[in-house]
Amino acid sequence: GVDVDLVVVGSGFFGLTVAERVAAEHGRKVLVIDRREHIGGNAYSEVDAETGIEVHRYGAHLFHTSNERVWEYANRFTEFTGYVHRVYTTHRGEVFPMPINLGTINQFFRSAYTPDQARALVREQAAELGGRTPENLDEQGVNLIGRPLYEAFIRDYTAKQWQTDPRELPASIISRLPVRYTYDNRYFNDTHEGLPVDGYTAWIERMADHPNIEVRLGTDFFDESQPVNKANVVGNVPVLYTGPVDRYFDNAEGDLSWRTLDFEREVLPVGDFQGTTVMNYPDADVPYTRIHEFRHFHPERDYVKDKTVIMREFSRFAERGDEPYYPINTATDRERLLAYRELAKGEKDVLFGGRLGTYQYLDMHMAIGAALSMVDNKLTPHFEGGAGLA
Ligand code: FAD
Ligand code: NA
Repeated sequence: GVDVDLVVVGSGFFGLTVAERVAAEHGRKVLVIDRREHIGGNAYSEVDAETGIEVHRYGAHLFHTSNERVWEYANRFTEFTGYVHRVYTTHRGEVFPMPINLGTINQFFRSAYTPDQARALVREQAAELGGRTPENLDEQGVNLIGRPLYEAFIRDYTAKQWQTDPRELPASIISRLPVRYTYDNRYFNDTHEGLPVDGYTAWIERMADHPNIEVRLGTDFFDESQPVNKANVVGNVPVLYTGPVDRYFDNAEGDLSWRTLDFEREVLPVGDFQGTTVMNYPDADVPYTRIHEFRHFHPERDYVKDKTVIMREFSRFAERGDEPYYPINTATDRERLLAYRELAKGEKDVLFGGRLGTYQYLDMHMAIGAALSMVDNKLTPHFEGGAGLA
């Protein structure tokens, strides 16, 4: 048997938050398994051996939250820098601030519009469909911000993200395209924002560093040659599962669809490649969507001055075997998800959580917040009051 009080499948922020609370608050023994060779899920970062620069292996991770409980909890394990995220975009050889704001608009139209003038212009350009309901993503984009801005900054970027012509994509993929009628180009507007002072992995390792927590890496829950797996655990020990919900049920209701990303990392012999962390490439003739330059996440660190690490990001539909990153959420996906939720309800003493287990994109702060709620609502009553897990 497995001599613990809870098995947690997946060591991302959702799984580790639950493990940490059950271990520290309830004094219970927790076994955390992950099929990867490292903890932390997609928030994992590593130090590049050649340059010493911290690289976010699964793409840029920015921490931001307005949830005071999550902020207080995160600060038990790490301090945060004063990093404030901003994004720029290179369109036809010219750099513009993102998200689309008054600076973007005035640069694009070579104007000096006031906020009201810019608002009136965008409203006029967005009226092109004359009240007709947008039939596809292309029309939706025009309807939201007008053709000139849509075609420059959104159309081809979206086509690259989906590897699909936006005229072939449903309008519902984009419900709003926020335009700011000020010069504020701060990316997030949460109360708290910053990066972990000594890196994501140090933060994550401190969460797992408790005598009641054991972590086993390189351990797939569905691999029956492993001592701890679905077949010998479910029904015997309570489980929190944060892997893909469709995989748990052998894809019985069909596959849920995801977008995945491919990353190409490169060390360049220059001290500074692009002068900022994230540069978008919205044009069709550039195959990648973004370039990340990791040194700029930590201007306070004493990094090498003659080398830099960049990562180009490419986006496409995920096939089986690819890492699932962003839920696509088609009508079929939503039907299948409902069927999987029914199956999950019937799975006694197994809780499903996190980005993959609930098929929804979750930022880190959302994963932590949802995990703390699951502890309040399910695990505390179970461990302190003897309630079933359901
Ligand atoms: P995950 O972090 O995905 O962890 C799930 C874990 O389960 C993984 O480690 C996986 O290996 C493991 N697992 C899956 N199947 C099995 C199995 N069969 N057996 C054992 N283990 C298994 N958040 C932000 O706040 N800011 C950002 O800027 C940001 N950027 C992101 C960029 C990308 C490309 C992605 C995909 C996510 C980003 N996030 C960001 C979200 C963040 O990475 C996490 O997804 C989020 O914290 C949710 O955590 P989680 O624990 O639910 O999932
Ligand atoms: Na269940």
